[in-house]
Amino acid sequence: MEKQRAGRNRTMTLNDKEREELRKDISFLSDNCAVDGAVDKTFNQDLFEVLDFLPKHFVDLLIIDPPYNLSKNFAGNKFRKTDDAAYIEYVRSWLPKVMELLKPNGSVYVCCDWKCTSAIYQVLSECAVVKNRITWQREKGRGAKTNWKNAMEDIWFGVADENNYYFDVEAVKQKRRVVAPYKEDGKAKDWEETDEGKFRLTYPSNFWDDISIPYWSMPENTDHPTQKPEKLIAKLILASCPVDGIVFDPFLGSGTTSVVAKKLGRHYCGVEINEEYALLAAKRLRKAETDTNIQGYNDGVFWERNTLNMQKKKK
Ligand SMILES: C[S@@+](CC[C@H](N)C(=O)[O-])C[C@H]1O[C@@H](n2cnc3c(N)ncnc32)[C@H](O)[C@@H]1O
Repeated sequence: MEKQRAGRNRTMTLNDKEREELRKDISFLSDNCAVDGAVDKTFNQDLFEVLDFLPKHFVDLLIIDPPYNLSKNFAGNKFRKTDDAAYIEYVRSWLPKVMELLKPNGSVYVCCDWKCTSAIYQVLSECAVVKNRITWQREKGRGAKTNWKNAMEDIWFGVADENNYYFDVEAVKQKRRVVAPYKEDGKAKDWEETDEGKFRLTYPSNFWDDISIPYWSMPENTDHPTQKPEKLIAKLILASCPVDGIVFDPFLGSGTTSVVAKKLGRHYCGVEINEEYALLAAKRLRKAETDTNIQGYNDGVFWERNTLNMQKKKK
């Protein structure tokens, strides 16, 4: 049955007619394919079926947002929480093979929560040089009565070759409001006065507190239970994939990685086992042909939370 939604709810949904039409956009691999056969494709199948058919060393960047070690229902495909050792074996069953898709100068990001972060680190460090751990402060949900509310996720950053990888820090600068504007000889020091207020452009750290989880009033929102924000994925792609490069996401979900890659002039390839999510990805990809907006990324910089009005004024 269709969910009843408030009038201002912008969550993207699918009807049967759209499903039929969008099935034309999704692909299936049953044999080895060349790079041309993989690029700008959404494969609707089990990752374990696809991995051996994809070309080796064809992607610049891997963005991996796997099922965390939690019991979760992905539209009928249930992932069951298991013990730490079994989860490590699960990660070991796909991560080294996914790494084989990466170019010798490529990079990888793997998302996780506090509970599976050590498993991810352990397996990632077996097959990549781990460069950093980004912590994303995500605010959602109510607090727990007998525990601290879970309000963060980790994103591990690794590279295939420590001496040869792409990283463009200039592309991911943050525009932050200046709280205590300091002047030297009457002139602003490291900040500028604009019509929208006083701002400073800063280099990003590995603590990200400027990104909200997609919610009902955002046009990027879908019913996927663990959809990542476009703004978060945009930072990873801009920093670690050259223009025209290829980004691969083995657990594509509602398509965020492919959509953001397309909006930013990169190529994509994604695998998603669930048809409903693969079709949502296809719908978002069609929309991205004309709408390249990424909420929170404007004028080539990342704005803080709750600055949408200022960003609009600037346009
Ligand atoms: C954490 S979600 C990814 C969400 C995604 N980043 C987004 O923004 O929508 C993990 C996804 O992996 C899919 N999945 C789980 N096991 C899979 C498998 N073996 N092959 C392909 N997809 C799988 C699930 O259906 C789910 O949509």
